[in-house]
Amino acid sequence: MFDTLKDYSILYSFDRSGYRRHARHFKPVDNRHIRDKRFLVTGGTSGIGASLAERLADNGARVTVTGRNRDKFERSSLAGKGIDFIELDMADFLDVTQSPLDRFDGLVCNAGGMPDQLKLVNDDYDLIFASQVIGHYLLIRRCIEQDLLPENAPIHITSSGGMYLQKLELDDLCWQEAPYDKVKSYANAKRAQVILNEELAHRYPGYTFSCSHPGWVGTDALREALPGFSERLGKRLRTNEEGADTIYWCLAQGPELPSGKFWFDREPRKTYPFFWTKESRMTRERLLALCETAWAEQQA
Ligand SMILES: NC(=O)c1ccc[n+]([C@@H]2O[C@H](COP(=O)([O-])OP(=O)(O)OC[C@H]3O[C@@H](n4cnc5c(N)ncnc54)[C@H](OP(=O)(O)O)[C@@H]3O)[C@@H](O)[C@H]2O)c1
Repeated sequence: MFDTLKDYSILYSFDRSGYRRHARHFKPVDNRHIRDKRFLVTGGTSGIGASLAERLADNGARVTVTGRNRDKFERSSLAGKGIDFIELDMADFLDVTQSPLDRFDGLVCNAGGMPDQLKLVNDDYDLIFASQVIGHYLLIRRCIEQDLLPENAPIHITSSGGMYLQKLELDDLCWQEAPYDKVKSYANAKRAQVILNEELAHRYPGYTFSCSHPGWVGTDALREALPGFSERLGKRLRTNEEGADTIYWCLAQGPELPSGKFWFDREPRKTYPFFWTKESRMTRERLLALCETAWAEQQA
């Protein structure tokens, strides 16, 4: 009863105390769907993605991480663990759809950030929406189209609890009508990711889609994007390992994981705790059409 109240509070659920309380019920992870498998982790050069990549490699997987900055990768401990790197800017759609990629057994769409300044991509979207929503959609679409993933392969998307208060908005993706608000843009992109996870699971039943939020994790990105928030939470922020745990657990479930669900601390969670954030079917269709148009443009 007390634990349920703490979960409703969010403050004692998304933080480290929430992780530790939830982790009391965690069972040991069976690594048979990890060992000897190949994973591609976008945004795997720091923070949650790097921690996930290390845990995968430590448990016998072959891992390739992507990021925009090779130096960052080389300065990290990842190369020493036999992890490979591909330079890939998720907002460079040509690169996402055409740069050479090997076949692998699982894909984690984790790259993301919250840039302070508005930057437009192709005059269609801001950088947040372009890299996290369109870029990842194109990568998933490419992997399916080019048969880069085997049947039932896991495809995971790292979203954020920040989307809980956001209703999907598609009318002003370039911020021409309202002043640029990085937090709102981020929440909107994360909401779009949750919807895409459900829609893609429905459209491609041959793969195992999942989406999660990691809680509040003390990564450099969070400290830079929201310094006041990070300072206030201090030691209550989760570690990178704790932030990566549910993604790892989802991958380790293999095809037994029900496809299209949203996970937090290894449990399926509601995606609309607030009724006013529920978008219409028409808005969902518009999101899919937007993504498909971007895909068609890359094929032309
Ligand atoms: N930290 C949290 O509390 C928290 C909470 C909820 C959700 N998340 C989500 O968790 C994921 C990982 O975030 P993090 O906190 O671990 O941040 P991080 O340490 O900054 O990691 C982000 C990774 O994404 C890469 N990246 C960023 N923008 C990119 C782009 N346009 N193209 C390609 N790669 C890009 C970064 O490398 P380069 O900059 O070198 O490209 C880095 O490898 C993100 O999707 C984030 O939204 C984090």
